[in-house]
Amino acid sequence: MIYLDNNATTPVDPEVYDAVFSSLKRDIGNPSSSHAAGLRARETIARGRAQVAELIGCGPEEIVFTSGGTESNNLSILGTALRQEKGHIITSAIEHPSVLNACRHLESLGYSVTYAPADADGFVSVDAIRKAVRRDTLLITVMHANNETGVIQPVAEIGGIAQEQAIAFHTDAAQSVGKMPFSVSDAPVSLMTLVSHKFYGPKGIGALYVRKETPLTPILFGAGHEQGLRPGTENVAGIVGMGKACQIALRDMKLRISHTRGLRDLLFSVLKEKIPGVSLNGHAAHRLPNTLSIRFPGIRALDLIERLKDSVAASAGSACHAGRDVPSAVLKAMGLTDDDALSSVRLSVGKDNTEEEVREAAGIISLAAAALGSGQ
Ligand SMILES: Cc1ncc(COP(=O)(O)O)c(C=O)c1O
Repeated sequence: MIYLDNNATTPVDPEVYDAVFSSLKRDIGNPSSSHAAGLRARETIARGRAQVAELIGCGPEEIVFTSGGTESNNLSILGTALRQEKGHIITSAIEHPSVLNACRHLESLGYSVTYAPADADGFVSVDAIRKAVRRDTLLITVMHANNETGVIQPVAEIGGIAQEQAIAFHTDAAQSVGKMPFSVSDAPVSLMTLVSHKFYGPKGIGALYVRKETPLTPILFGAGHEQGLRPGTENVAGIVGMGKACQIALRDMKLRISHTRGLRDLLFSVLKEKIPGVSLNGHAAHRLPNTLSIRFPGIRALDLIERLKDSVAASAGSACHAGRDVPSAVLKAMGLTDDDALSSVRLSVGKDNTEEEVREAAGIISLAAAALGSGQ
């Protein structure tokens, strides 16, 4: 199996695995306990927090550990909105479901939400966001890099609009942090979502960057962990793993970018050569170095993925509901027809892929696509 689905999740780095395993054995105490075992676990968490903070250039006290991207996004959106009884939120049509469905939940409670459109290149419209701002807008939330197309969003400009109007700005950086340099000084963000398993850390652990003095209310209730924002005994080994993954990402960033970009471009050029009519979704330059969203003319992505399932791990730009394929909301928002969206496949390479694997995968994919009648 050649694994080309690194935007869904990444394999755990061996250095991360060793660090997690040692922590599971060593950190036996509850970090809230006052005895030596508790103190040791607290120190372990502090080290992990410092490593996460270093990757994004913030203070360790600005990091709140969560269970992952879904929770960080929900905490940002609900935790900002629920401080008031009503209000307005601006987001985009191409967000992850953990943002869109949190916004829809707020609509059901009487809040209003504007979903800014995206253009054909996959960029969220800055102009639409500027025009959507109202007196009661309490939050703007727009992702940094899109999970399907990899397109990098103009978050510095969008954050600038929020800053001018003294509105909180959240960005879901689940797909970008660890894959490309991105620090809290690159955009005026109040809140930023980070996800460990997208950059070779363990699953089930994430973080939320909360800029100092950003008003936020918890969405879970319990004891006072994580500055009262996220109660519950900390996932100590998960934090160790995420911290280690951040440390390695910082160390290996340049190498990872050039390696993945080279493989991604090779994959696309071989596929284009072998299958007539294959085309790219989203802007060719302003995207993550590892992501390829492509249309295979004349076939259904789900049929291709089914054929590939034991040899190449890829993902459809669409979600499958009860056997029906539903065109991707992201690709539809970019103006693709249902047929084009349904024929799109996401291939996302990672640091562990090799040139040999990519060439082999391109061969397997093109044979499968040809068997399904693509490009004929
Ligand atoms: C952009 C984006 N946001 C949020 C998430 C949710 O992360 P998790 O599954 O860890 O909750 C993902 C994961 O697919 C993602 O790609």
